[in-house]
Amino acid sequence: MSNHLPQIQGVIFDLDGVLTDTAEFHYQAWQKLADEAGLPFDREANEALRGLSRRESLMQIVGDRSFSEETIQAMMDKKNGYYVDLIQNITSAELLPGALALLDELRQAGVKVGIGSGSKNARTIIDKLGIADRLDAIADGYSVKNSKPAPDVFLHAASLLELEPSQCAVVEDAGAGVAAALAAGMWAIGLGPAERVGAAHMVLPSLDGVTWTDLQAKLAQAKPC
Ligand code: BG6
Ligand code: MG
Repeated sequence: MSNHLPQIQGVIFDLDGVLTDTAEFHYQAWQKLADEAGLPFDREANEALRGLSRRESLMQIVGDRSFSEETIQAMMDKKNGYYVDLIQNITSAELLPGALALLDELRQAGVKVGIGSGSKNARTIIDKLGIADRLDAIADGYSVKNSKPAPDVFLHAASLLELEPSQCAVVEDAGAGVAAALAAGMWAIGLGPAERVGAAHMVLPSLDGVTWTDLQAKLAQAKPC
């Protein structure tokens, strides 16, 4: 086991499923759309969609069925309408346990904080959660063309933070997001079951009770990125 000290100067958080439980709302909105369109879908199928863009998610649900671009667009709009309805009442109460404390600890430690989300609704949610003033950079679904598992959204966040990829750690709940962080050459912290995020440098069940000091100590024991 190596025992080096990673020089992490920035932490980039995925949003949905990491800072707040909007991953559940994405699932509910896709389920409603799929039921109406007569497409087979369930929670298990949804697991493969975590972190994927709106279009890529729909493509996975549609499978080898063929629809016109107009219909695809209409289905994406419909799903987003359901999702937007579900996020209307989000407040800071919907921040997941440990999230705010970690954001504050990072700020106090002088570590830069960014968001790297594939969602085009990320800014709305950030505003509703009341955390905009705790963030140094936001990269979202509008920032880059290639979505996770491509590294682009995290590389964009790092450039906004004016940091090199190797100076950044990413916190992710999705397999596609962990893959994106690793492809970016960043430290990856996975939240959730090992089957989903086990490729990360370290895996935790959630951010509950997690401190920056702990994260640094655990990453110091991990194989470098
Ligand atoms: C990601 C979610 O953060 O954003 C995905 O994990 C979602 O489930 C993606 O599909 C795109 O979100 P939106 O809000 O642009 O449809
Ligand atoms: Mg996520």
